[in-house]
Amino acid sequence: MKIGIINAGNIGLNLAVGWIRHGHDIMLSKDTHPEQLRERARTLALGRGLSETELSRFRYGSLVDAAQFGDIVVMAVYFPRLEHVLEELRRDGVTLSGKIVIDTMNPLNVDASFSHFHDLKFMEHTSVTERLQREFPEANLFKAFNNVPAGLLDIKKWSYGHPPSIIYIGGSSVEDAAQVRTLIETSGFNPQFAGHDLTDSRILEKLGILMHHLADNEYGGNIGIAIGVFKSLSE
Ligand SMILES: NC(=O)c1ccc[n+]([C@@H]2O[C@H](COP(=O)([O-])OP(=O)(O)OC[C@H]3O[C@@H](n4cnc5c(N)ncnc54)[C@H](OP(=O)(O)O)[C@@H]3O)[C@@H](O)[C@H]2O)c1
Repeated sequence: MKIGIINAGNIGLNLAVGWIRHGHDIMLSKDTHPEQLRERARTLALGRGLSETELSRFRYGSLVDAAQFGDIVVMAVYFPRLEHVLEELRRDGVTLSGKIVIDTMNPLNVDASFSHFHDLKFMEHTSVTERLQREFPEANLFKAFNNVPAGLLDIKKWSYGHPPSIIYIGGSSVEDAAQVRTLIETSGFNPQFAGHDLTDSRILEKLGILMHHLADNEYGGNIGIAIGVFKSLSE
């Protein structure tokens, strides 16, 4: 698959490293400090055991280049930067028409003293995924990966246990949902499809709040937790 990553930061880069191993063609881009992207990609990729050959397969471009490159486009933008990024894409006529767009984002905002908070006002009537669908009405939006801390996307960390579930929703067809499922599986994780209704992305974003509360109350504030494996009794 041809995948464009719009902002290869913590989450975008970790996903890209997992996918390049499986032969996908990937273009990375970065919103803030794009000049640091190659070095950050190199450090993370080699740290996760990629070979120089695998590393050399990454392509690099602007946010707009990545949007145009991918048949699948991953939106992994820092929420406070979202409107700037959308403005940049709009200015260059990006429509993402017909593309699968996977939104990994959470509405975690930042205040004047650089403290992060769940933007409950934003979440009252919408979600990031719905915001993206309004911006790109002809794109095929999914939400996935928003409830897994980036550092846990290294499947080697799960070699002694079951990999966590990645809940995903959205898409307009069974075929498109199957492509996203394959991407989740090729990263080694356990895909759990919760239907096509994009308004359910609100639930997935609220799940992020629950994860933070769990981290605070059960795990000493460590957000390095993941949703366990869902299993049906009939399996
Ligand atoms: N990170 C996660 O575990 C995670 C998990 C699930 C969902 N998400 C969602 O995915 C979207 C993207 O998140 P992200 O964490 O991947 O964003 P990100 O692009 O990595 O950026 C987060 C912020 O931290 C800074 N930053 C990132 N790496 C840094 C480094 N090594 N040193 C210093 N500063 C650094 C960035 O600035 P510079 O890069 O310009 O320095 C930016 O201001 C967000 O909407 C988030 O809610 C994130």
